[in-house]
Amino acid sequence: MTQTHFGFQTVDERDKARRVRAVFDSVAPRYDLMNDLMSAGLHRWWKAYAVMVANPQPGLRVLDLAGGTGDLALALAPKVQPGGIVVHTDINETMLREGRDRLLDHGVVLPTVVCDAERLPFADGYFDLVTVAFGLRNMTHKELALREMNRVLKVGGKLLVLEFSHVAPPLQKAYDWYSFHVLPRLGRWVANDEASYRYLAESIRMHPDQETLRAMVREAGFGHVDVHNLTAGVVALHVGIKT
Ligand SMILES: C[S@@+](CC[C@H](N)C(=O)[O-])C[C@H]1O[C@@H](n2cnc3c(N)ncnc32)[C@H](O)[C@@H]1O
Repeated sequence: MTQTHFGFQTVDERDKARRVRAVFDSVAPRYDLMNDLMSAGLHRWWKAYAVMVANPQPGLRVLDLAGGTGDLALALAPKVQPGGIVVHTDINETMLREGRDRLLDHGVVLPTVVCDAERLPFADGYFDLVTVAFGLRNMTHKELALREMNRVLKVGGKLLVLEFSHVAPPLQKAYDWYSFHVLPRLGRWVANDEASYRYLAESIRMHPDQETLRAMVREAGFGHVDVHNLTAGVVALHVGIKT
């Protein structure tokens, strides 16, 4: 049996996706509120920065993976009109339903697909842009998912991976205190779910750092990879070009 990690726990590989699903089933109704509270609104700025770097143009085909409640899809959709499309996807139906309802409330109707980023149901070379925000960390086989992202992109297409990363050393102590003392309590008070927010803090620590992830994106077939550190490395945006 192959083992992997779920936060700081070692679990059977076949068990990880089920546990991740339980986390997002639990947090879905309060996900957006918690994002604003936990990051003091910063997640909006990180996502806006990713959209600016994506530089979406009319006519582009965009795939948003692990799209959840739809922040990126919502920002990208008007920018690819006329003639473009944003496909909003996630492995978790509860998260995707929250996202779809929210998009509809904004008058935005997009194709919504429940799918696993590790096995994408799309043709080779179909998309100009693939985005994944705060999703890669939760995937069991990250290398496989990155290869799938490469496969569905056209040559010259762009991948954007926005994800928590490794913070600059002077901030580490304060960040650890916040992550392991404040976050789980916030999760308990607001979402009645301490464990999911402990998982969040732990999964960030287990996620590859900036340079390791850069190497993984390259290994998946992206000839050029840029890394943008945001908020002293709390978050990093990896931009890969399929060559
Ligand atoms: C932290 S949320 C991010 C949602 C949204 N992208 C955002 O930035 O607010 C992570 C999402 O990744 C999804 N996810 C986890 N594993 C996945 C997989 N293998 N394929 C697709 N989505 C996955 C979860 O269901 C969840 O909705």
